[in-house]
Amino acid sequence: MEKELTYFERIDFNEFRELKESEGFLIESISDYIKDKNLIEQIDPLNVIIDITALSGYSASMQAFSEELLIPFDDSILFIADIKHEETFNYELRYCFTKIDYWKSKKDKSDDKVENTNKSKSKHKKITDLSEDELGVFFQEFRKSLYGHEKFKDDFFDLTKTFRVFNGIREHKILSLFLLGESGVGKTEVANSIYKCLGGMKKLAKVNFGNYSSEFSLSSLIGSARGYIGSDDGEIFIRVRDTDIGVILIDEFEKSNATLFNYFLDVLESGKLVSSLAEEIDLDGFIIVFTSNISKEDFSNKISPELRSRFDYKCQFTLLYNEDKKKYVEFRVNSIVRKVNEKYKIQLEENLHERFLTQINVSDYNNMRDLNKKIKTVFVDYVTSEKLALHELEKEISE
Ligand SMILES: Nc1ncnc2c1ncn2[C@@H]1O[C@H](COP(=O)(O)OP(=O)(O)OP(=O)(O)O)[C@@H](O)[C@H]1O
Ligand SMILES: [Mg+2]
Repeated sequence: MEKELTYFERIDFNEFRELKESEGFLIESISDYIKDKNLIEQIDPLNVIIDITALSGYSASMQAFSEELLIPFDDSILFIADIKHEETFNYELRYCFTKIDYWKSKKDKSDDKVENTNKSKSKHKKITDLSEDELGVFFQEFRKSLYGHEKFKDDFFDLTKTFRVFNGIREHKILSLFLLGESGVGKTEVANSIYKCLGGMKKLAKVNFGNYSSEFSLSSLIGSARGYIGSDDGEIFIRVRDTDIGVILIDEFEKSNATLFNYFLDVLESGKLVSSLAEEIDLDGFIIVFTSNISKEDFSNKISPELRSRFDYKCQFTLLYNEDKKKYVEFRVNSIVRKVNEKYKIQLEENLHERFLTQINVSDYNNMRDLNKKIKTVFVDYVTSEKLALHELEKEISE
């Protein structure tokens, strides 16, 4: 058989039908021909397009059934199907169709012309949307904003390059990273940095699984069936809908339970978030960052091998080197100085961080939150010793 199958996106179907009808075609469902095979002989290939989406209902016997059914159809007929079944059809119908195509709505084509990129209709900006140049800038920024973890940064760069290629040919939907390690070394910061460096203007989609340990956790996460108390949307749907960037952070992943692990197994496999009401959010091109404080050994005990193998990348974050901690001090001090300058319109001493670093022994701190607290104390001491009464200054300015 030399037949051709074209996939369409569900939301584009009406546009496709109108276009084809204006060209004189009639779109018919394969169901009509399943009911009455004699109709096949009467088809005029120049006027009829056959939608085979209904074959998805024959899951168990699809291959044999479809091969027998489709043989008598003329090879020049155009067959179409909902892209939702792409994976199943490409495999089960591999001997029926020799050519696969994707129908693009006019809207997409004009977007491509204007922006000359491969942007999808999704409102989320994703790493797969960036041009090569933009990707270069993204990684420059990302490397600057996360201190240390050089091996991770190199690996993330390589992973992203591979992801973009295989996402483009629809083989890899979600890039999933699992980050383990000590508290306060930048695991959560990875997701924050990806969000910022992709130009996020709203809020990172973040869900803390520490809050999801009870047996009712799945309904809080993905909503409960309509008609029950609290049948509102689940948290993850709200977070993903409200964000502008294709990144999701799942913090403290190990704290939840097997039901949620299984749900995520499906998400990583299908590339979709499916709510309890069967609503879907396509996560194609998304990055999901999972973080956890468990040790490497507990990771193997707590997380099933099926799920473990679904993560594209697992990494143990080690403690930061003193040089990286010093960079963190410099960054924090400069950011405090900038804010003080803006608010109180006073110029603080230049390179204040150098003075601070003589008072803080960074090797005493492994958690950057603790180091941050120390920076604040040293700053308050500095303000006091310099007799800078910041609160009074504020009063004067506002008067
Ligand atoms: N490597 C780093 N680069 C930049 N900032 C960092 C780094 N490590 C920690 N920080 C800063 O320290 C704070 C704590 O870091 P973060 O929340 O990423 O820790 P974590 O590894 O997720 O810890 P936990 O396991 O406790 O959640 C954040 O404000 C973050 O900005
Ligand atoms: Mg964290």
